[in-house]
Amino acid sequence: MAVRSFERDSLSQRPFALQWLWQAGYGARTVVLRGQGSAQKEDEDKVIRRIDMIVEEITPAIGARITATTEQVLADGGPERILELLNARGVLVFPQLFLSDEGLAALANRLGDMEAATVTADGSDVNRLGIYRIERGKTDTNHADYVAGNDYWHMDGTSYDVPGKATLLKCESPPKSGGETDFAHLFAAFAALPASRQNELKQLEVIHCMRGAMRYVYDAPTEADYARWDAVFPETPHPLVWRMRDGRHTLLIGSTAYRLAHHEDDAGRAVLEELLAWCTQPQFTYQHVWQQGDLVIFNNPGLLHRSRPYDEHSGRILHRATVKGAEPIVAA
Ligand SMILES: [Fe+2]
Repeated sequence: MAVRSFERDSLSQRPFALQWLWQAGYGARTVVLRGQGSAQKEDEDKVIRRIDMIVEEITPAIGARITATTEQVLADGGPERILELLNARGVLVFPQLFLSDEGLAALANRLGDMEAATVTADGSDVNRLGIYRIERGKTDTNHADYVAGNDYWHMDGTSYDVPGKATLLKCESPPKSGGETDFAHLFAAFAALPASRQNELKQLEVIHCMRGAMRYVYDAPTEADYARWDAVFPETPHPLVWRMRDGRHTLLIGSTAYRLAHHEDDAGRAVLEELLAWCTQPQFTYQHVWQQGDLVIFNNPGLLHRSRPYDEHSGRILHRATVKGAEPIVAA
């Protein structure tokens, strides 16, 4: 078998997605074609195929769709390339990769330090690997709240000073209807704001808490509900704008953003709602429709995400692994 790589001139005539790959430095080894060759050449090809993935941009602002094998994503160089793409594109989709649970945990550990799902351990079989099983119908109230809260735009880990770096979601069983996952690229949305508005926002402080997320889930919370939420995630102040080490900016908004500090509640929430509406416009978003075996990885600090409604009989089951954050929230 032989490997043929497109040269710069021929790649420049490829469709838009492949041209982007070239510009991003992935072009030379992106497209692999098979032919006839010697056994030695075949060995060389195996080495090359381990690290080559086919990558296509989903929209100009967000997402990349990656065609790869499970061996490629775990091979030497695979996780490093995935991290680069993740930082650039926010969301990576591996359609029907059918990665094993062990492979999911291994990949999470290769992308950084895996955060074992101890806090959200639910007694499912995959917990032994540190994986959390997302499904409707959990009887424990905290778990039911946790899963229900995923239906609203949010960033994971806003109760911490260092939110998680990445989340990996693997589809065990797709929903019969509904249950898509939406993503909004906060880096792109903030960068598209006028400079004067960016500077105003950099002065603000926001309060996150579980009360914020649960106000959408509960019509009439009781004192016992408030006490339970405050025990899990009390009011936690953050700068509204988080400056990342690479110089990009993200916004600490979403359902857990309860109010702005030093503002009347209504005035502060108006700002938060205005920003949410801005960041979730179609040009900054991508909706993933799940198929069995899909793997989706998202760059948590740079995104909002949510699941679309589905009922507990839809059959939707995802396995989730998370990678610990390495960047503390700092003001812009
Ligand atoms: Fe989430």
